[in-house]
Amino acid sequence: MIAPPPFEDIAQARKSVRKYKPDPVPLATVQRILETARTAPSGANLQPGRFVAMTGQPLRDFCDTLMVAIDDGLNVTEAYSYFPEPMPKYLRQRQIKAGADLYTALGIDRKDADARRRQFMRNFRFFDAPVGIIATIDARMGKGCFMDFGMMLQTLLLAAQAEGLASCGIGAMSMYGPFIAEQLGFDEHDMVVCGVALGYEDTEAPANNFRTDRISLEQFARFEGWDR
Ligand SMILES: Cc1cc2nc3c(=O)[nH]c(=O)nc-3n(C[C@H](O)[C@H](O)[C@H](O)COP(=O)(O)O)c2cc1C
Repeated sequence: MIAPPPFEDIAQARKSVRKYKPDPVPLATVQRILETARTAPSGANLQPGRFVAMTGQPLRDFCDTLMVAIDDGLNVTEAYSYFPEPMPKYLRQRQIKAGADLYTALGIDRKDADARRRQFMRNFRFFDAPVGIIATIDARMGKGCFMDFGMMLQTLLLAAQAEGLASCGIGAMSMYGPFIAEQLGFDEHDMVVCGVALGYEDTEAPANNFRTDRISLEQFARFEGWDR
């Protein structure tokens, strides 16, 4: 039996993928990934994350309906705040860098608003991934539950990676949360947190041809009490 790759290799290999091969992902694989995501810890074991996974015609219908509504001027809502307003300079610099890396890889000029918008709109097609997931939590949850949700989400992304699949979180989906909630027949308390694209990476695609960087260990962690 071949030993699975070490955890660190799986974590290092994961990246956000924005172009996929059309190859379908078997239901059993998606179910296994969600079963693994389910192992994530949560405060008081509340397990706030809920997931709707779509593929094939239901996924196409979902995206088509959403895109038509957006083209028709669907209102943007902010069910929860994501980015600080105003954004502190040091965070803004990271945000700009993340965007610039993507648009440079795609050969899109910083000033080409149309091309940038076209790329942004691909969020709402799950970047043409064969599997699109909409993730929700109960809107009555406290802020802390976003930690629980995040742990489940990262476990999901890494479980996908371990299955040889690529992924991308899509916070942009939350911009149209109420519309999506209606589309998918959610309960009144279900709040759309994000989408997740899942599929096999198109390794030739320029959109996937870059890696984001990270701040150094010294910038985010301090170590006390060790002899050096
Ligand atoms: C919860 C969440 C939401 C995200 N939303 C989007 C999104 O709407 N559109 C997008 O292109 N990338 C999105 N991303 C991807 C981030 O931009 C990406 O994780 C970050 O730049 C780090 O790059 P990496 O994932 O390749 O390591 C999201 C990631 C997460 C975890």
